[in-house]
Amino acid sequence: MTDTLTPVLSDNWDQERAWTLAAYESRGGYGALRTALGMSQPEVVTAVKDSGLRGRGGAGFPTGMKWSFIPSYEQVNKPHYLVVNADESEPGTCKDVPLMLASPHTLVEGVAIASYAIDAHVAFIYVRGEVLHVIRRLQRAVQEAYLAGHLGKDIHGSGFDLDVIVHAGAGAYICGEETALLDSLEGMRGQPRLRPPFPAVAGLYACPTVVNNVESIASVPSIISGGAEWFASMGTEKSKGFGLFSLSGHVAIPGQYEAPLGITLRTLLELAGGVREGHQLKFWTPGGSSTPLLTDAHLDVPLDFEGVGGAGSMLGTRALQIFDDTTCVVRAVLRWTEFYKHESCGKCTPCREGTWWLVQVLERLERGVGTAADLDLLLDQCDNIFGRSFCALADGAVAPITSSIEFFRAEYLAHVTEGGCPFDPDSATLFSPVGAPA
Ligand SMILES: Cc1cc2nc3c(=O)[nH]c(=O)nc-3n(C[C@H](O)[C@H](O)[C@H](O)COP(=O)(O)O)c2cc1C
Ligand code: SF4
Repeated sequence: MTDTLTPVLSDNWDQERAWTLAAYESRGGYGALRTALGMSQPEVVTAVKDSGLRGRGGAGFPTGMKWSFIPSYEQVNKPHYLVVNADESEPGTCKDVPLMLASPHTLVEGVAIASYAIDAHVAFIYVRGEVLHVIRRLQRAVQEAYLAGHLGKDIHGSGFDLDVIVHAGAGAYICGEETALLDSLEGMRGQPRLRPPFPAVAGLYACPTVVNNVESIASVPSIISGGAEWFASMGTEKSKGFGLFSLSGHVAIPGQYEAPLGITLRTLLELAGGVREGHQLKFWTPGGSSTPLLTDAHLDVPLDFEGVGGAGSMLGTRALQIFDDTTCVVRAVLRWTEFYKHESCGKCTPCREGTWWLVQVLERLERGVGTAADLDLLLDQCDNIFGRSFCALADGAVAPITSSIEFFRAEYLAHVTEGGCPFDPDSATLFSPVGAPA
């Protein structure tokens, strides 16, 4: 592991008006695009492959390999598309929005390089509909890039043409699932598609399509400028490079911390001033609410794909939500389950009906009118949902439930024996003014 923090994507976030083209260019912005356009397209794909970059949207699929699945025009005479997944809606996940707000040109430059690599002449950035300020900032950045010749016809005199379209979704978590996103982009109701065919073969408008997360694409300019070896020198053996770790909740200094993959929560908490003063860490999510909970026994788990997987959870989007000893785990899990119930797209029965039933049982447990048998009922419902639904939304919905029962069964039972929630909700949600005792 190299330095504790490795600001690359976030390096310019504190620059004066960092989101403008002038500010971005003053730090060498769009230099990587010039370099890439001087390389052959397969060379760019190879550089990304060699860097070891794995998708930052959650699943960790190798980015260069994904690009190499796009068939050539000789094989399939259809246009190629790049689609950037900027739907970021997972509870706790907060990295793509700050990145696009602070430095939209990092993403736009990545889009131009990635489109060149896969020979796409139209790229879409699909942004979550609620974040209007981000949509406006991106639209302006794209406009600036066109005017400066970084997008449009014959980019930098290379003969390569690219149009970039910023598309606002209507605000649905399921539209972050890549095939639901493609349906939504095509103007249909956003629901996941049956796979195969995978998007690389038949994606947008049934054409070869690469769908990548914002952070994955925004990492590409640094790989071209710094080199694959430099990128791969950070991180761990199978999880290379750096990433944005978002700390939120009961932590003294919440925010985005850019560090090599493999850093631990213990180190990140030291950097973030620790857990809320006077309190202890109780549980946390390593990658958003759809990754199984971990506890204070997992402070030294390396935060890379393998380390977190080995601890029984998933790295996901590195959304580290921190909960201290004032938090009722049943209440927290109920809130997340209500989210999944609301966001279930309704296409398949186990998820549509199952998430509704999960809320019923969790609600009565939290109100103190449940029974001990409700825990087995919950686990049985989870068993009927996990792996039996159409997409990963449902698997994610049961993750906090099964993991919280594993670690905090006694707390669930205390709700039953005490006839109510043993916690004061105010102490978990009210934050003291700075300087006052917590
Ligand atoms: C319910 C659900 C929501 C998702 N939301 C997002 C999202 O907001 N952003 C994202 O990049 N990936 C999201 N994903 C993962 C995408 O399906 C896909 O794996 C990702 O965009 C691929 O990009 P990457 O290889 O660069 O990580 C979601 C998946 C599911 C099942
Ligand atoms: S699992 Fe849920 S979100 Fe996914 S297709 Fe089925 S109903 Fe829709």
